[in-house]
Amino acid sequence: MEIIVCDSPHDVAVQAADILQGYANDGGVLGVATGSTPLLTYQELIRRHKAGEVSFAGCTMFALDEYVGLPIEHEQSYYRVIHDEFSDHVDIDPADVHIPNGLADDVPAACAEYEQAIVDAGGIDVQLLGIGTNGHVGFNEPASSLSSLTRMKTLHPQTVADNARFFNSLDEVPIHVVTQGLGTIQRAGQLVLIATGEHKAHAVSQLVEGPLSAACPASVLQIHPHATVIVDEAAASRLNNVDYYKFIQQNKPQ
Ligand code: GLP
Repeated sequence: MEIIVCDSPHDVAVQAADILQGYANDGGVLGVATGSTPLLTYQELIRRHKAGEVSFAGCTMFALDEYVGLPIEHEQSYYRVIHDEFSDHVDIDPADVHIPNGLADDVPAACAEYEQAIVDAGGIDVQLLGIGTNGHVGFNEPASSLSSLTRMKTLHPQTVADNARFFNSLDEVPIHVVTQGLGTIQRAGQLVLIATGEHKAHAVSQLVEGPLSAACPASVLQIHPHATVIVDEAAASRLNNVDYYKFIQQNKPQ
């Protein structure tokens, strides 16, 4: 894994945008994430798009996950979040923005169709990821199969509590979701995981320096051939080898 430690959340967003911009200008298949952490990255990409530096015209987007049973008009549906915070502000064809369907009559069948749509698009070239405080990626909670594909999951109470800040009350947070699996995520060409803030420091330390384990779903990045972890100093604060990771960045082979 490449570990990039940045001075600030803004710098994390700039680094992530630098990577995504390259894939976007090539008309790539982009895996997009929700949560608050990617918002600065999306704002940076929107700014660059308006400045004429990046186009998403030939791109396809696949979101990681969605709540089950939340109408897509709901402002916290991930359909709305991806559209409102990112895709509606750039030049991608809306028909090329794919979000898992949490409202299907047959959710398992919809999950299988989503998985096939990714395959039909040629696979995801770059997948942006956040990380939950318990080490989840997408909505793959602890004990998720490391080879899982898109499916329905039940949220951990910690995740429900963490996400309650986006809703009026804890009771409004759906407990069922659909999410790309850890196996789906493994198939992407490059993984870019971003994390900021001290509340993510434990999860980041488990991801980078803990064992490969379903107990920390994000640890699957350890067995991906091209995984990039971009964190700020606060999120890096529990890494034992942080000085080494900085040394590597300062001494990249030409
Ligand atoms: C949600 C999303 C994840 C995200 C996580 C962290 O549960 N499903 O994809 O990584 O929250 O969110 P935040 O970036 O707001 O801390």
